[in-house]
Amino acid sequence: MKILLLNGSALPRGNTFLALEEIAKTLRADGIDTEIMQIGTRPVRGCIACNQCRSRSPGRCFFDDDLCNRLIERLREADGFVVGSPVYYGQPNGAVLALLQRAFYAASDAVRGKPAAAVAVCRRGGASAAFQTLQMPFQMLNMPLATSQYWNIVYGLGPGDAAFDGEGMQTMRTLAGNLSRLVRALAALPPNAPAENWTPTHFVRDDLKKR
Ligand SMILES: Cc1cc2nc3c(=O)[nH]c(=O)nc-3n(C[C@H](O)[C@H](O)[C@H](O)COP(=O)(O)O)c2cc1C
Repeated sequence: MKILLLNGSALPRGNTFLALEEIAKTLRADGIDTEIMQIGTRPVRGCIACNQCRSRSPGRCFFDDDLCNRLIERLREADGFVVGSPVYYGQPNGAVLALLQRAFYAASDAVRGKPAAAVAVCRRGGASAAFQTLQMPFQMLNMPLATSQYWNIVYGLGPGDAAFDGEGMQTMRTLAGNLSRLVRALAALPPNAPAENWTPTHFVRDDLKKR
């Protein structure tokens, strides 16, 4: 069993990393492999809704000039996923959102049914809004949410501060324990039934469109 953790901070050893490393350590002690993938400092493009991933590059983002397709490959191999992000203006890092929106749109099959969790790391405020934003895609991709004893939030300003947020680190360890149980429990079950055909609807009345 393997869990992929994405560090959505450009700082490879910052507070988000510390929170994810606490999860990874606990998972490893429980016999689960882990990999922490770094978002890094190179530009990450946003989705331009070209829909080429639906035709010319199925299962991949058509744009191959950043880490999106590498992330998709890792997600396919993983049994579960954790994304951590620093809080910027009460939101996750924009690069993380851009990356996940593309990866999930191009390759929802890589994550469907796999347990997931989000972690938000901040100095003082805005973490619960960022945390909820990070979780939004999981709930429409059939990804069971791993939970903890508190919201998955860790506090710290400068790199290293998070190590001193004792309750935050405890929340990370509890999250890891629950994630481990969830991944193992799901692995013991038969695979999900194939999804029913989905016809996305909208709220625009067809009779109003026909002018
Ligand atoms: C552009 C920017 C915006 C930030 N906005 C917030 C914020 O809204 N609330 C907050 O508590 N901290 C904010 N911070 C502080 C970071 O969330 C905090 O330093 C965090 O520990 C950084 O995580 P990292 O070390 O993994 O990068 C901001 C930092 C930056 C660079």
